[in-house]
Amino acid sequence: MIAAILPREVVAAASRVDAPEADLFPEERALIRTAGPKRRAEFTAARVCARRALARLGVPAAPILTGDRREPLWPEGVVGSLTHCAGFRAAAIGRTARFASIGIDAEPDEPLPEGVLEHISLPRERAQLAGGEGPNRDRLLFSAKESVYKAWFPLARRRLGFHEAAITLEVDGTFAADLLVPGPVSGFHGRWQARDNLIVTAVATPRTARRPPV
Ligand SMILES: CC(C)(COP(=O)(O)OP(=O)(O)OC[C@H]1O[C@@H](n2cnc3c(N)ncnc32)[C@H](O)[C@@H]1OP(=O)(O)O)[C@@H](O)C(=O)NCCC(=O)NCCS
Repeated sequence: MIAAILPREVVAAASRVDAPEADLFPEERALIRTAGPKRRAEFTAARVCARRALARLGVPAAPILTGDRREPLWPEGVVGSLTHCAGFRAAAIGRTARFASIGIDAEPDEPLPEGVLEHISLPRERAQLAGGEGPNRDRLLFSAKESVYKAWFPLARRRLGFHEAAITLEVDGTFAADLLVPGPVSGFHGRWQARDNLIVTAVATPRTARRPPV
């Protein structure tokens, strides 16, 4: 499902089942030492997915540690993204020669909890949510924002607020994000899909889309 909404050169792997913690590197296990069972399970399964994707790209297995803003730290030469939600974990990886960043997100195809939409969206984004068939569009909007954030962070190295990007969802399974703050890119293009009670979104930033350093 994730692979279908990413460029051909991005390798994705997904799983609906847990993986044994023995599959983690000791340095990775140390990161979840004090975490509860749910967190341990999602952390492990997503990293096992990442390892499968890396292997398919021909990149040797290595620990995927976490930066100080929770971002995944990828081996030399690759960029990628991880996501997990109930019953679904996934990773997507691409070569740095081709991609500047990748962001993926998976969400249950359910309405957002009461009050969340107002917090995470702009009035102009809410205006496009009414009616129509298909997935829960409030949740789709949220997922698109999460993917955008995960693609933004490695480029900008700073947080992006929910009101700092405006998402336009298209019925053809694409979306656009206009950045409302200055940064290394002015926007992103992404894709989405909804199936089997799941919404997935993805952004892959081509290397050439980055504004050259001044
Ligand atoms: C970081 C965030 C996007 C994670 O999303 P989520 O829906 O809670 O969780 P997901 O399971 O889909 O993704 C979690 C993964 O995101 C990745 N992630 C976390 N912080 C990240 C960052 N700063 N940059 C890139 N990826 C990050 C991690 O790999 C994490 O998995 P791990 O902790 O097991 O390694 C979210 O918690 C958050 O902080 N959102 C606020 C910022 C935002 O979305 N702004 C909207 C801009 S329009």
